[in-house]
Amino acid sequence: MGSVSVFSIAARRLEGKVALITGGASGIGEHTARLFSKHGAKVVIADIHDNLAQSVCKDVDPKSASFVHCNVTKETEVENAVNTTVAKYGKLDIMFNNAGIVGGAKLNVLDVEKGRV
Ligand SMILES: NC(=O)c1ccc[n+]([C@@H]2O[C@H](COP(=O)([O-])OP(=O)(O)OC[C@H]3O[C@@H](n4cnc5c(N)ncnc54)[C@H](O)[C@@H]3O)[C@@H](O)[C@H]2O)c1
Repeated sequence: MGSVSVFSIAARRLEGKVALITGGASGIGEHTARLFSKHGAKVVIADIHDNLAQSVCKDVDPKSASFVHCNVTKETEVENAVNTTVAKYGKLDIMFNNAGIVGGAKLNVLDVEKGRV
């Protein structure tokens, strides 16, 4: 009995958490969305591929996964993704900035220009 409850806690490490995942329609982001959902998180997938993202949400669990269109090169769309998440779930605990980096990595966020992924 004791070991079962310990396992249950370990298996749902993100219970009650809300996560926003950019580029969550495929690859690393999709697998992260599936794993976070399995661990009990509410997941919002932010991506440019609407149909793909919606089908991932449907497959993961429409009760815990949802989609918002977001091109991360557009600051207003990122702002909208955050606002949509907070409006839907009342908070944002985890922001996984997974979608795209092209070119040399910038170690300091202040060196990153708008519109670059
Ligand atoms: N796969 C690797 O080996 C690897 C290695 C190092 C870094 N990365 C980085 O990790 C991230 C994810 O890699 P992946 O292999 O899962 O890529 P992927 O191509 O499988 O998935 C990327 C996702 O991001 C979405 N996307 C692309 N441009 C977007 C934009 N402007 N706004 C919002 N969503 C956008 C795509 O629609 C797709 O769903 C990328 O930033 C990649 O550069 C990947």
